[in-house]
Amino acid sequence: MDRRCSQLSMPILVTCGLPYANGPCHLGHLRTYVPADIFVRGLRKMGREVLFVCGSDAHGTPIVVNAEAQGMTPKALVTKYHQHFDEIFQGMEVDFDFFGDTDGPVSHNRTREVVEALMENGYVYPREIDLAYCSECERFLPDRYVEGECPYCGKPARGDECDLGCGRHLEPGEIKNAICKVCAGKAEYRKQTHYFFRLSGFQNFLLEYLQTLGGTASARNYAIEWVRSELKDWCITRNMTWGVRFPGNDDLVVYVWVDAPIGYIAFTEEWCTRSGRDWEDYWKKPSQIIHFIGGDIVYHHCIFWPAMLEGAGYTLPSAVVASGMLKIDDKKFSKSRGNVIWVKDDYLDQRLHPDLLRYYLASYTAHNKEVNFAWNIFADKVNSELVGAFGNFLNRALTFSVKNFEGEVPEGKIDADVLARIEKTLAEVTSSLEEYEFKKAADSVMALADYGNTYFQSHEPWKLIRSNKEEAGSVLKSCLQIAKAMIILMEPVMPAKMQEAWRQLGMPGEVKERAFSDAIAPLASGQSLGTPEILFDRLEEKFVKDLESIFRERIKEAESREREKTDKKEEVEKEEVKKEEAKKEEAKRGEAKEGEAKEGEAKKEEISFEDFQSMDIRIGEIKSAEAIKGSNKLLKLKVDIGGEVRQVVAGIAQSYSMDDLVGTQVVVLVNLQPAKLFGIESQAMLLAADVAGRAVLLRPREAVETGTKVR
Ligand code: 2FM
Ligand code: ZN
Repeated sequence: MDRRCSQLSMPILVTCGLPYANGPCHLGHLRTYVPADIFVRGLRKMGREVLFVCGSDAHGTPIVVNAEAQGMTPKALVTKYHQHFDEIFQGMEVDFDFFGDTDGPVSHNRTREVVEALMENGYVYPREIDLAYCSECERFLPDRYVEGECPYCGKPARGDECDLGCGRHLEPGEIKNAICKVCAGKAEYRKQTHYFFRLSGFQNFLLEYLQTLGGTASARNYAIEWVRSELKDWCITRNMTWGVRFPGNDDLVVYVWVDAPIGYIAFTEEWCTRSGRDWEDYWKKPSQIIHFIGGDIVYHHCIFWPAMLEGAGYTLPSAVVASGMLKIDDKKFSKSRGNVIWVKDDYLDQRLHPDLLRYYLASYTAHNKEVNFAWNIFADKVNSELVGAFGNFLNRALTFSVKNFEGEVPEGKIDADVLARIEKTLAEVTSSLEEYEFKKAADSVMALADYGNTYFQSHEPWKLIRSNKEEAGSVLKSCLQIAKAMIILMEPVMPAKMQEAWRQLGMPGEVKERAFSDAIAPLASGQSLGTPEILFDRLEEKFVKDLESIFRERIKEAESREREKTDKKEEVEKEEVKKEEAKKEEAKRGEAKEGEAKEGEAKKEEISFEDFQSMDIRIGEIKSAEAIKGSNKLLKLKVDIGGEVRQVVAGIAQSYSMDDLVGTQVVVLVNLQPAKLFGIESQAMLLAADVAGRAVLLRPREAVETGTKVR
């Protein structure tokens, strides 16, 4: 934790990265939220007043695209997932003081205020850029509405990110060979004015600021490297209607990464309004702002966000705590591959206690390291650490005391060694939490449990009770003191289970309210103990196997979905190739028809005059000409053949411009069977000479009446 945080007078605000309200909560989310909640509970136990806020990230193209796909409005989709996350957080005991959403009026207002301040301070400027535009859908294509090629590495990329290649964030207009995601048509590039945030002007500020930034060193160092190497201005507007309207240009909304972090301010405001506090104490005056985020959004929080705050005159974050990524079964977390654990379906709905998962997430590995989740590791940790060590000690100490000392804390003296050990643990837990070392904190309490088990075992109270009851009383009182300390010190990690243990110990009120320093406050002899119960149940093999099989099924389903997708894709590709070939064939036929006289000379059999007479050939006049989508050879013509207008598809696009053709007289074979070219009916054929593949139209030497017969 940032050293300045020890200045007790400063208000402390802790936030968590806002989940997109675009899909259910998975374990990857909890990797950030659970440790943040542990941290906040820990700070409160150190006597600090902390405000803890979060909310749903409501904007951005993925939400609009997903809502469209589900036949919902973006608002309805956001509401659905907002409620979902709210419920999950309650279920997992992640106890935000305020959980808002960025589409609320306070967020809209605060975003406008910040953007206007940036504009007034000269950090926003307009620039004309070439943007992907779909003429079929008649719209500009922001972010996820467009796919194409990464301009840096050439790999297939999305409009806002080179997700399959170099991983770069792509600015609007950067993507090459853009394809519209909605209609799959080739996009064109059109000029439009957008607004840019002058991030490049913040380089010196950021280099200095980042030196003082607390939190995880990996986040800070990554950001420093980035600022040193390149700092590009950011386009902060998008062509959408879902989002916060850009001040002064109602056709644009601000980019989601502008209004999302501003949500942190808005949620503080909303909480302050409810609680009669002043939000400016957090955001306009010296304060401690600590952001907990996923390791993938360090750039936004360590570079873009502080620059925006500085530019608009707000208080800067004092720490950014970035969590390491999550793996499932040692494989990269992936929703599409089914390599995911859904918090509701896979965990809470299986009646698994939230505290087990909280403990796993806190204690598996250091916060900035990669965490791996697998059901068998989960079960091992629960069974050996929580059931075997922690729960076992509490139960032994309590059961023995209740049975042998009339359900009361025995008379006696607490062992000085025990007190020293508790003090050591207390110091370790507080310093570990201040350093965002949640594993160290949890391990330290577990080590106290191990110490307790050894203490109990080595003092053999079951023998002492017969030989020296007084001494047995001291041993048990010492054990109960250890139990009390364990419960208080572990409460941030496992709040509900520790409350249960607190009650079993016969302690009044809520352990949540007890300071860490209470761990050392001696238990009073004669105080009634509660009824000992098993705190943690063993996870049986069969149950774990069932959980594993749900997971494996999902992977299988995802694999078969992926296979289907690939098959379909291949089918579509094959279809495309076929179509392309057919098009070529048709185009050739179009050309061939016009050049068939020449070919006929060489190959075809003689025909009779009657045969020739059976052809109805007339002089026509081209009335209109238009291009055919997808073909660069064919044109669709309207040809007057004398009182009747025929539609003709002719392979002359590369020979004549459309304007030139209108009004031209042509020779038309009128009674040729209609044929479809490119799906368009051709009701006659123009005669043309084939000059090395180029169609040269035949026409009367002098103008004649339209409809005149050729003989
Ligand atoms: O990456 C994400 O999931 C974003 N929704 C995080 C936003 S955090 C903050 F900036 F609001
Ligand atoms: Zn790339």
